[in-house]
Amino acid sequence: MEIVGEPMAEKVTVSVIKADVGSVCGHTRPHPSMIKECDRILKDGVKQGILQDYYVTRVGDDINLFMTHYKGEDNRDVHELAWNAFYEAARIARKMHLYGAGQDLLADSFSGNIKGAGPGSAEISFEERKSEPMMFFMADKTEPSAYSLPLSRIFMDPFTTTGLVIDVRAKKGFDFEIHDVMNRKKTVMSAPEESWNILSLLGDTSRYAIKRVFSRAGIGTVAVVSTDKLNFTAGRYVGKDDPVCVVRAQSGLPSVGEYLQPFMNTMLVAGWMRGSHYGAFFPCSPERSDPTYFDGPPRICCLGFQLCDGKLQGLEPADPTPGMHKPIDYFAGSEWNFARMNAIKASRFIRSHGPFMPAILGPEEMEYTSKPEVLKELEKRLEDLD
Ligand code: 13P
Ligand code: 13P
Ligand code: MG
Ligand code: MG
Repeated sequence: MEIVGEPMAEKVTVSVIKADVGSVCGHTRPHPSMIKECDRILKDGVKQGILQDYYVTRVGDDINLFMTHYKGEDNRDVHELAWNAFYEAARIARKMHLYGAGQDLLADSFSGNIKGAGPGSAEISFEERKSEPMMFFMADKTEPSAYSLPLSRIFMDPFTTTGLVIDVRAKKGFDFEIHDVMNRKKTVMSAPEESWNILSLLGDTSRYAIKRVFSRAGIGTVAVVSTDKLNFTAGRYVGKDDPVCVVRAQSGLPSVGEYLQPFMNTMLVAGWMRGSHYGAFFPCSPERSDPTYFDGPPRICCLGFQLCDGKLQGLEPADPTPGMHKPIDYFAGSEWNFARMNAIKASRFIRSHGPFMPAILGPEEMEYTSKPEVLKELEKRLEDLD
């Protein structure tokens, strides 16, 4: 039967896949030749017709691959391309004896999907609007629930996002897909009606995280976070996720500025130094994202592109050359010095607690602990209280 009517617009997919496959001098920065190798492999992906466009960047020791295509989420070819890029970058890292070479590659070979193989992924599919501003948040030395506080402010707090009050489409509210990363369960809850119930869950950052946010004004998926908990994937603790968050902005959605605003506030997130400490989010350029104080503080970067027929339109060059565009670097400027200074103040303050909570994480969340060994040694010396 022939179906007559408007053809459905093809959905574009933006996939961000990231991994730490080795870095120079501890957990600091991938070697430039690793980034170059990823670039070469993704460029080849464009030539093969798998990708429309791509951008390779990093935050701290994590390589982030931004990829655009029309193949949908969980596509084998796209995931394999990312796997091959990380595999080859890890090979370079091993040759140079870099630190943590191949750290996030948990599988021996690619088996159809990157999920569960170690790298983190955030993929978003939607009908491209006439103008589609996109922002890419990238964090190092922290976990997926680090985005819960800023995203709650952005999508539920009208004192952060005035658009929730004055933009008639944003005012319809947003649906949140929330994951219980320990029990591997998910649910969808609606704001503003269920805001306080949503916060009741998200406040437990050791267990709940936002995976996706959807518009209730028909604009589709608005935000997605990588929530692959490496420790549970591997069945043991092998590092914090250092998650990414991809968002669409403006026209019925939070504006670019509304997305950025929460990061002017100082917030503590879990995961720096041996994956076992709380520290304050430090907004900066990827160029300035080397963790240089106590392996941190946890970095947050934000890059912006326009989409243009499935390609990443940045500042240069003028024509759409895949892989060549430079993004806006939102946290590079001096207006963020204030937030950076406060992040250092807060991080120094919490460091003054040394190995005591709340400087260190709760016992179930510690990446390192000597407690079982200490208790074992003490077994014979432990006495009952009266
Ligand atoms: P312009 O008037 O400069 O387009 O800005 C609109 C806006 O919503 C900025 O947040
Ligand atoms: P990464 O998760 O960025 O590899 O850092 C690990 C760590 O423990 C740094 O102290
Ligand atoms: Mg590392
Ligand atoms: Mg890292």
